[in-house]
Amino acid sequence: MTERRKIAVLISGRGSNMASLISASMDPNYPAEITLVISNKPGAPGLERAAEFGIETATIDHKDFPRDREAFEKALDEKLKEHGIEFVALAGFMRLLSPWFVTQWRERMINIHPALLPSFKGLHTHERALEEGVKLHGATVHFVSAEMDDGPIIIQGAVPVLDGDTPDTLAERVLAVEHRIYPKALELVASGRAKVKDQRVAVSGEDPELADTVLIWP
Ligand code: GRF
Repeated sequence: MTERRKIAVLISGRGSNMASLISASMDPNYPAEITLVISNKPGAPGLERAAEFGIETATIDHKDFPRDREAFEKALDEKLKEHGIEFVALAGFMRLLSPWFVTQWRERMINIHPALLPSFKGLHTHERALEEGVKLHGATVHFVSAEMDDGPIIIQGAVPVLDGDTPDTLAERVLAVEHRIYPKALELVASGRAKVKDQRVAVSGEDPELADTVLIWP
């Protein structure tokens, strides 16, 4: 049987990406196992979803640590270590993490962002993509560095921007691609196929035929 890495998913909201990771990890041959879901927001809908899958959940409310980011992050870090967590996947986790925390989990923490980085870092990515008139938009999974929405890129998925798109229709198309690329990225990282070298991610065992795939729109 495949050796499975222990993963915690950090969320703040509905947790659809979390659910896509949990679903992928239901396959015993998947190299990662989601053993813990932590929310910084009490009552985040994703917590209930995780519990339905039978995954242990915890809430560490940042508001319990007013003006003390360090204490909040120490509590987070302790919880992760208590559970023997090896990799952390951020999935709609809406807190900026300090360089201290990022260093603790360097090359062992990944994030999904709803844009083709380095374009559209930050919030409201779909509105901004429409404003700029880009023809291709998408999502990125990357290792987390101390800068927001920065760090070595593991995988990207692109979708066309269609005439008449609204932020909502575009978000829906991007979300579908997020649910495909996040499980794939975690698989690459947990199996050791994706490794950081000189601030870039090298993936071993890539299918050379895929390198010919070109997405042109319109
Ligand atoms: C996703 O669009 C993700 O890319 C971004 O926040 C959103 C979270 O959605 N970081 P969900 O909670 O995974 O459904």
